[in-house]
Amino acid sequence: MMPERAWIPVALSHVIEAGTSAGALIDGAELVVWRDRKGTAHIWEDRCPHRGMRMSFGFVRGDHIACLYHGWQYDAAGQCRHIPAHPDLEVPATIRIATYAAEERNGIIWTCLAEDADIAGIPDAAGTATPVRSLYVDCSMETAAAALARASLPVEGGPDEPAAVAELLPGSWLLCAGATRIMIAAQPVNRGKIALHIVLIDARGGSALPKAVARWAAALRLRLEAIPAPIATPEYA
Ligand code: FES
Repeated sequence: MMPERAWIPVALSHVIEAGTSAGALIDGAELVVWRDRKGTAHIWEDRCPHRGMRMSFGFVRGDHIACLYHGWQYDAAGQCRHIPAHPDLEVPATIRIATYAAEERNGIIWTCLAEDADIAGIPDAAGTATPVRSLYVDCSMETAAAALARASLPVEGGPDEPAAVAELLPGSWLLCAGATRIMIAAQPVNRGKIALHIVLIDARGGSALPKAVARWAAALRLRLEAIPAPIATPEYA
């Protein structure tokens, strides 16, 4: 489990288009990531207080999101504002959804499950990000960190080169080889599963390098999933 205060990536920014929503997991906790029509990202608990429908199945209407099941509408603060079956009802303030911080940096959407989130704690690779892809991988955070520490990266016009690796924050790394710089931010999805959100930083040229890094990432997933998981030691041993 990551520390409650840590900023955690939940998606690449470009994947959540204005007016859309998607589900995300952090250590098994179900979240909805949605973007209003003006482009602001929101991250909430993925559960309607009425009958528990996932809000990630809902519809974005302007700066509100409406539940798929009975159409209750929630404003950007998570407060229910409209119940279609009772259009004249002044909705009680207690009908609201838990909301979390949502910030974007380096082409990645981040959240922090603590209430007093300080955006200074979000990792920053200091450059212009080009999205590559998100990978869901059956391995632990520790396995990924160990493999990335000795990774090689695609570079323009030559074979892969060993990368210099800097840990920006636990679970976030900057890998550099030649002119290739990539940021990888890991999301703890569930026990034994993580998501790696990958962006190129200050990429030059056309689409060749992003494609090469996307292929590299796919091979990385295969390598990570081939590493045997450590055998848990029983507490009585
Ligand atoms: S379950 Fe969401 S409006 Fe009924």
